[in-house]
Amino acid sequence: MTVVNTISEVRKIVKQWKREGMTVGLVPTMGYLHEGHQSLIRAACENDKVVVSIFLNPMQFGPDEDLASYPRDIQRDKTKCMEAGADLIFAPDPEEMYCDNFQSYVDVDLLTKELCGLTRPCHFRGVCTVVTKLFNIVTPDRAYFGQKDAQQLAVIKRMTEDLNMDIEIIGCPIVREKDGLAKSSRNTYLSDEERKAALVLSQAVKLGENMVNNGEKDCEKVISAMTDIINSEPLARIDYVKITSLLTMQQVKHIDEPVLAAVAVYIGRTRLIDNFSFNQI
Ligand code: PAF
Repeated sequence: MTVVNTISEVRKIVKQWKREGMTVGLVPTMGYLHEGHQSLIRAACENDKVVVSIFLNPMQFGPDEDLASYPRDIQRDKTKCMEAGADLIFAPDPEEMYCDNFQSYVDVDLLTKELCGLTRPCHFRGVCTVVTKLFNIVTPDRAYFGQKDAQQLAVIKRMTEDLNMDIEIIGCPIVREKDGLAKSSRNTYLSDEERKAALVLSQAVKLGENMVNNGEKDCEKVISAMTDIINSEPLARIDYVKITSLLTMQQVKHIDEPVLAAVAVYIGRTRLIDNFSFNQI
C-alpha cells in the first residue's frame, strides 16, 4: 500500500492504473478510521484498485464545531486501510487542497436545506466542494459512502447526477457496535456515562423501524415514540427527529413513499446521528 500527500502523485499513479485498464474505487474519509470505513474499503475492493482519501476538510465545519478536537491518527489509519485491502492512501494537507486564492464552491440546493442542513448551514457546501475535488483528482469509477450519513449520500448522488459526473455512487449499510450504537469517529468524545446514554439513538431508531415494518404509516406516531425514548435519557438533547421523503429530504406526514427516519441528538456536547430508511411501499 502506498501513501501520498500530493495531487500530482495521486494523478500519476491513477493514470498508470487506467492505462493498464484497471477500475478504481474511492473511499473518501476524514480519518480516524473505524469498522464502518473498513466496510466501505472492503466494498470498494470490487474495483481493481482502491484509493482511500484521508482529509479533515475544514470547509465542512462551522465556527463552533469540532474541527480542532476531531481525532487524528494517521499511523492507525494506515493499518486500518491495509487490513481492509486499500492500495493507495491520499492524505493531503489543507494547503494542498485549498490554495490561498480559493473561491469556487459546489452547492446542492433543496436537499441540503432540511435535517443536518438546518443546524449546520455551511456543512454540505464544504462536503460537496471537497468531494468534487476528490472526484476530479482521483477520477474513480465508483465512490463509496456510508448510509449513516444518509443525507450526505442523497446530496452526493444528486450532485453527481446534476453535474454529469461519470462516477457510480455506492451507499453501504450502517455498521454498529455490538450494543447498537452506530460507529462514528465522534464516539471517541463520549465519557463512559455518555457512551451508555448514547444508546438512546439506536434504541429510538430500532423502535421506529419496528413500528414502520409492522405497518404504522402515521409519521407523527413514529416520531413521538422515538422522541419519548430519547427524552427518557437526561444526558440527551434532541436536535431533530424527523421522517422525510428519501428522494427530496422534505418532511412527510404519511408513509406512502420511500422515507428516511433520521435523528440527531447531542449527548453532552457530542452531536451524534442515526437513521433508518424504509423502501418497501
Ligand atoms: O463523511 C465524511 O467523512 C466526509 O463528509 C467526507 C465525505 C469524507 C467529505 O469530507
